[in-house]
Amino acid sequence: MFVAWQRHAESIRSDALFRDPLADWLTGTLADHPDMRHCTQMVWQVLGETPSFPAYFTIRTRYFDDRIEAALRDGVRQIVTLAGGLDGRPFRLTCPPDAEWFEIDLPDMCRFKQSVAHLADLRPRCHWHPVAADLTGEWLTALTDAGFDPTRPSVWLIEGLLMYLSDADGDALLATARRAAAPGSQLLLEHLQTTMLGEAGRSSRNRVESQGARWLSARDDVPHWLAGHGWVGLVHAVDDPAIGLGREVGPQPAGWLAAAIPDRAVSAVPPARSVSLSPTPSPEHLEVRAVRLPNSTYFTRGWRLPEVAPDFRVEDVWVLPARGARHEFAELVRQIADGDGAFEGERVAMFLHVVRQRLGAWFGLDRPGAGLDARVVSLRARLPEDAAFRDRGPDQRAAPWVSVYQNDREWVGEYASRTVHALMHVGWVSDATTDYRGEMTILVRPNGLLGTLYMAFIRPFRRFVINPAFFRMVARNWQRHRTIIE
Ligand SMILES: C[S@@+](CC[C@H](N)C(=O)[O-])C[C@H]1O[C@@H](n2cnc3c(N)ncnc32)[C@H](O)[C@@H]1O
Repeated sequence: MFVAWQRHAESIRSDALFRDPLADWLTGTLADHPDMRHCTQMVWQVLGETPSFPAYFTIRTRYFDDRIEAALRDGVRQIVTLAGGLDGRPFRLTCPPDAEWFEIDLPDMCRFKQSVAHLADLRPRCHWHPVAADLTGEWLTALTDAGFDPTRPSVWLIEGLLMYLSDADGDALLATARRAAAPGSQLLLEHLQTTMLGEAGRSSRNRVESQGARWLSARDDVPHWLAGHGWVGLVHAVDDPAIGLGREVGPQPAGWLAAAIPDRAVSAVPPARSVSLSPTPSPEHLEVRAVRLPNSTYFTRGWRLPEVAPDFRVEDVWVLPARGARHEFAELVRQIADGDGAFEGERVAMFLHVVRQRLGAWFGLDRPGAGLDARVVSLRARLPEDAAFRDRGPDQRAAPWVSVYQNDREWVGEYASRTVHALMHVGWVSDATTDYRGEMTILVRPNGLLGTLYMAFIRPFRRFVINPAFFRMVARNWQRHRTIIE
């Protein structure tokens, strides 16, 4: 009801960013109910302590409204709200009549909302399915029984719920949603920042507890957390002006809003333990799909490289066919640096490699003075005093990449010629289905027009010949290693 009150307060503003008839009906009709009177008192008290509180709910509501409507415009026809509560969206958003809107909540809440909708004479804009289930248990069956089709794209909305769940229940929720999210789906979620579980959040917690609820979790590693459950996306602090639509949200209450899509790589690359290969598979027998991820993935992993290389452009992000335990990252780095069996049996890739060397020699692309510490200064010169950047890591034996730094989840190499200053970032991403998997990002700073043209020229060769050959090499070496340790 507290949230409904906030949405009602927004609805009656002349410059309202949304209007919510369900919230209006509730606050008007139940004004004399003891729960609503208690809620009204709370609202005034909170306003006195934290004047930016209403803006928090407004921005959070509009953030999700806009993304749901955009997905519906793009043709998605299934929305799943996990903990629908008294959210009025199915009754107010622009929604094609053939869309299916599933709202899961506890049985009492589902019944209450259905009677509110009936009494207030609110008509859903599409097919509305209240689904009574406990989100800390097995709820996917109830959802599919209600008509949800996991083979079709869907939007998943988790708003005002995660903080009331334990970390383990939140983990299970993201993993189940990922399992049921077909390609083209989206996950929208809100969570609290951990500061809200400390002194800064005390008065908000008191309010929540006076209403009979309790916050059990909060997090500051949302991009990582999403990635660990097979989602990649963008995360904003709620007070980020980029999503504020001109409203100022203060630092309290502190929360995150995220919009993510399924990470294709998680289902596309089978877990290492299920791969059955001969101890020394030949390249012909290795089926390695080159899985490219959205460039934005690089910014959602919590890597340290963006801090020191903000002027480099992301060229592409790839899944590396290597999965393993946290400590096995060092082995992956060793294998790539050694380049054991580089381009073994890869005739086309070898041919291109030789052609590139010849071109470099003819046009002086790699001549002394064209590269590191001559035309460009090594990235190492920018590294701050920080344990994450202390170890240099190995240079590559079979390729011109010179190591910049290595820590327990990142290894960065650099290369410079007359045309480009490039970085290769190899990362170790924690994954819900196994432990960790490799990811490679190439970043570039082309040298003027020549560099830009050169990058455009080599892009198709890199993407369709060199990279697949490189991934096959990584897969071959990784599987030899796994065969040895398993
Ligand atoms: C703060 S309300 C948020 C409702 C809605 N998402 C919104 O933003 O308006 C929290 C909702 O979570 C629901 N909820 C809490 N624990 C739940 C559980 N274990 N299973 C299903 N729903 C739950 C409550 O019934 C309540 O409707």
